[in-house]
Amino acid sequence: IDLRVRSTGGNKTTDIMYGLMHEDINNSGDGGIYAELISNRAFQGSAKFPSNLDGWSPVGGAVLSLQKLAQPLSSALPYSVNVAASTNANSAKIGLANGGYWGIDVKVQKYTGTFHVKGEYDGDFEVSLRSAITGEVFGRKTVSGGSVAGEWTEKEFELVPEKNAPSSNNTFVIEWDAEGVKSGSLDLNLISLFPPTFKGRKNGLRIDLAEALVDLKPTFLRFPGGNMLEGNTLDTYWKWNETLGPLKNRPGMAGVWEYQQTLGLGLSEYMNWADDMNLEPIVGVFAGLALDGNFVPEAEFDWVIQYALDEIEFLTGDANTTQWGAVRASLGYPKPWTVNYVEIGNEDWLAGRPAGFDSYKAYRFPRLMKAFNDKYPHIQIIASPSVFDGMTIPKGAAGDYHPYLTPDEFVQRFGRFDALTRDNLTLIGEAASTHPNGGIAWDGNLMPFPWWGGSVAEAIFLISAERNGDKIIGATYAPGLRNMNRWQWSMTQIQHAADPALTTLSTSYHVWRLIASHIIRTTLPVSAPSGAPNFNPLYYVAGSSAENTGVFKAAVYNSTSPVPVSLRFEGIEKEGAVANLTVLTGPSEPYGYNDPFTRADVVKHETRLLKAGKGGEFKFELPGLSVAVLETADK
Ligand code: AHR
Repeated sequence: IDLRVRSTGGNKTTDIMYGLMHEDINNSGDGGIYAELISNRAFQGSAKFPSNLDGWSPVGGAVLSLQKLAQPLSSALPYSVNVAASTNANSAKIGLANGGYWGIDVKVQKYTGTFHVKGEYDGDFEVSLRSAITGEVFGRKTVSGGSVAGEWTEKEFELVPEKNAPSSNNTFVIEWDAEGVKSGSLDLNLISLFPPTFKGRKNGLRIDLAEALVDLKPTFLRFPGGNMLEGNTLDTYWKWNETLGPLKNRPGMAGVWEYQQTLGLGLSEYMNWADDMNLEPIVGVFAGLALDGNFVPEAEFDWVIQYALDEIEFLTGDANTTQWGAVRASLGYPKPWTVNYVEIGNEDWLAGRPAGFDSYKAYRFPRLMKAFNDKYPHIQIIASPSVFDGMTIPKGAAGDYHPYLTPDEFVQRFGRFDALTRDNLTLIGEAASTHPNGGIAWDGNLMPFPWWGGSVAEAIFLISAERNGDKIIGATYAPGLRNMNRWQWSMTQIQHAADPALTTLSTSYHVWRLIASHIIRTTLPVSAPSGAPNFNPLYYVAGSSAENTGVFKAAVYNSTSPVPVSLRFEGIEKEGAVANLTVLTGPSEPYGYNDPFTRADVVKHETRLLKAGKGGEFKFELPGLSVAVLETADK
């Protein structure tokens, strides 16, 4: 195929083409990127997931019981654990142990911890990290000073193990001298332990997962959902104001993905995440719809509007002149953040429409949009449906498109964005190949892992979006992370467990990383000779990343033989000009995937230097089911 990239006639693309979407699904927040190591650290519960002692076990013959004390640590954390010596205590020391989120990674590094304790105790505490199998202690620390009756004492400590543990099958233990307890037992709560975090943030992110995300070259962060934003019922949505400040003020929530959530990864932590990776935040605000289909009636809708406006005032308001800006400052963030994108709800085309009445269209979206336009005219409002979901997006707003499709469907929709106008700005806020070709789609299960054929189809979809990069706000895979010990959504870019050595980057991770690593700032028209096949089997986009550069991205689908390509960039007529060509290919079997259990990587990466022939012609072949990027700065 003979292609010529024109030097004029293109469009400037979005500045935030690739990004991240995060919601706490698959224990990707608690037990995932949120670096807290202690599971069930504050015995948080809800009507759906009552408080319990899961994750905790007695040490030295202690007896643990869950208590709702008259004097709790805080009103947000009403439950705590009581630890008493049993009559047949088998050791002078008693205490409790936590197994972490399916293990704890123990290395020679600084762990920072806290716990709160109440009860009369005259002695020291000892904290340690131990093997759950042999009991070997990898590191211990004395936390001196006891505790008093009738008052919660906060204990802080740092612990540096002397050796790395051979596996993540470890526990964190707090012990004390049973005889020193004058009140018969001690109450403990909010027991927390962090390893070093990304950029050293307190209450921050797990380093290896954060770094894997940074490698994807993201430019935006959409949060906190997804379905998490909506909640299962109208009183269990993601309450931003309950995710702020000291951890003891955060009650947690019944997550929509079948587990109680700590909300340690709260609104400020999401903004820190965006700051630390230099990402544009796309903040999803609650739009008065719950996943069970209930929605806030129009007569009561004012509070939903005020609640959303307050959230943005918390983030962006002046510390001295706004109520919520002052609250932010009091929590240690005097400088306002900048928010340029707000999304109203999540997937509102799926519910809130009894008997043909569309509550989103009728009042939820227009009223929220008007309130934001009045108060924050610079903010780009994004509706949670897109024009592809049957919604006419009002002028000035953008839409959000969530294609979860088969590979063939992605390829068939290659021309879909070409029909958009600049009035139809679209965010691709979630996307993935989720089902096999020829299957029963959503009536069946999701595929077990991103697979090569699906990932190539995603590349074709991204190419179709980049061809219209002036009408697209940006694109992100979703969900990004999955803890392999507890999950319900299998198609994720990264699979992880407690041990960072087990983190597995999927086939889609490799494809999205390659495509996002070579940014086209201006798309340019590509002309093919008349009669050339129309984007089949080669799908491509071209443009420039800066002056005198050329970028070409392509993917091959539905071809058993390699596709020969002859490519010229107008303006480079120089024989001997050089370009880098990176080609990703997969296993011979298109359903091959990167399996976290075998850890074999099926994606082959090849980068080579090409020299242009006469007239600046770059010649190469792309194999069937491949993804490629060519970049030259030799114009
Ligand atoms: O990404 C998983 C879920 O898929 C999201 O929570 C929701 O927005 C979509 O339906």
